[in-house]
Parts: sequence; C-alpha cells; structure tokens
Amino acid sequence: MNDALKDYLSVRRTVPSAQLEDPGPEVTEIESLLTIAARVPDHGKLAPWRFIVYPRHDREAGRDWLLTRATQVSEYGDSGPEAEKVRRFANAPVVIGVVSSPRDHPKIPLWEQQLSAAAVCLNLIHAAHAHGYSAQWLTDWFSYDADAATFLGAKKGERFAGFIHIGTPAIAPVERDRPDTAALTTRWRPPESS
Ligand SMILES: Cc1cc2nc3c(=O)[nH]c(=O)nc-3n(C[C@H](O)[C@H](O)[C@H](O)COP(=O)(O)O)c2cc1C
Repeated sequence: MNDALKDYLSVRRTVPSAQLEDPGPEVTEIESLLTIAARVPDHGKLAPWRFIVYPRHDREAGRDWLLTRATQVSEYGDSGPEAEKVRRFANAPVVIGVVSSPRDHPKIPLWEQQLSAAAVCLNLIHAAHAHGYSAQWLTDWFSYDADAATFLGAKKGERFAGFIHIGTPAIAPVERDRPDTAALTTRWRPPESS
C-alpha cells in the first residue's frame, strides 16, 4: 500500500469547522489549493464552477447581515441553529466557496456539470490535507436561501456546491461509522427477460 493510501485516503476524516484553528493557508498556498481543486473530471472542459475566497475579516464584516437574515428565516430568532451556523462561518482561518456555475450546452447535461462541482469540493479537501491542513465541506442554510446566497456572491443561475472550511485541526478526529460497501454493491447481470 503506498503512503497516500495508508496515511490519507484510507483514514481521512473531516475535522469540524469549529475545531479548525490558525494557522490556515496563506495566499500562495490558497492559489495552490485552487489549482489542485480545479484538476477534476469535467465533461466538455466547461469549468462549470468557480471559487469565492472569504477572508476572515470580511466574513466578520458580513456577519451582522447574515445574522439579521438568520432571524428572518429561523423560527428561533437569533438563538436558532441558523444564527449558530453564521457564527461558525466566521471561525475557520480560510473559507472557500465552490460555486456551481453551469453553462448552457447542447450536449453536456446540467447534472454532469453539477457533479463536476462536487468533485471540485472533494478535491479541495484533498488539496488542503496535502498542504498539512484539515477541512470541512458545509453548505448550511445560506447556500439555499436566495438572498443570503446572493449576499455571499452567487449570481443568477448559480448555486453553492459548498463552503470548504480550512485550518489546522485543534483535535484529532475520531473514526465514524462507515457504510458497508459490500452491502451497497451489486453485480449487474442482464435482466432475465432480455
Ligand atoms: C454537499 C455536502 C454538504 C454538507 N453540508 C453540511 C452542513 O451544512 N452541515 C454539516 O454539519 N455537515 C455538512 N456536511 C457533512 C460534513 O462535511 C461532514 O462533516 C462530513 O460528511 C463528515 O464525514 P467525513 O469525516 O467522512 O468527511 C455536508 C456534506 C456534503 C457532502
């Protein structure tokens, strides 16, 4: 088993955003992370996604707007889970939004373009780990609220595939239950009637 399999792919775990601390990636490291993240399968070479980097001080500056919006969408006001997610959004050293930005194309379906955006998210997590950091893929309510998504930079026709929170883990992650891949796997045979 090579090192990437043994030390990373076989044991990778998310570290929750609340446990991601300084230091986080610097500007040149972020450029490297994005270059690696963009190296994904992409039918038609459309690059149907883009990145938005959220520096921490700018996330803090936007917090009041998001908290106000959280109280509008939450039945619990500013003590609900929505407001908590806003506070979490400001925590990690670096947050990068991966925006699904599909093109009109006669041959490449929307679904495939969205799948490519998801591949970017996971590749960004891999890139963060390769640079010595940990990461968490979150969508949170503001991915799905049109006003909040616009506030965070999504344009017409776009949606967030995720916000990747990146930093240095404050805790060692523990393993979680993993799916039984054998139970999820079948071997296809042609149906009897065919
Ligand atoms: C598309 C997508 C969106 C997610 N959004 C959230 C979220 O909003 N809040 C949350 O607590 N976890 C969310 N998660 C799950 C976290 O990334 C979670 O920490 C992770 O799945 C843990 O599994 P791992 O250790 O195998 O990475 C999301 C996962 C995916 C794939």
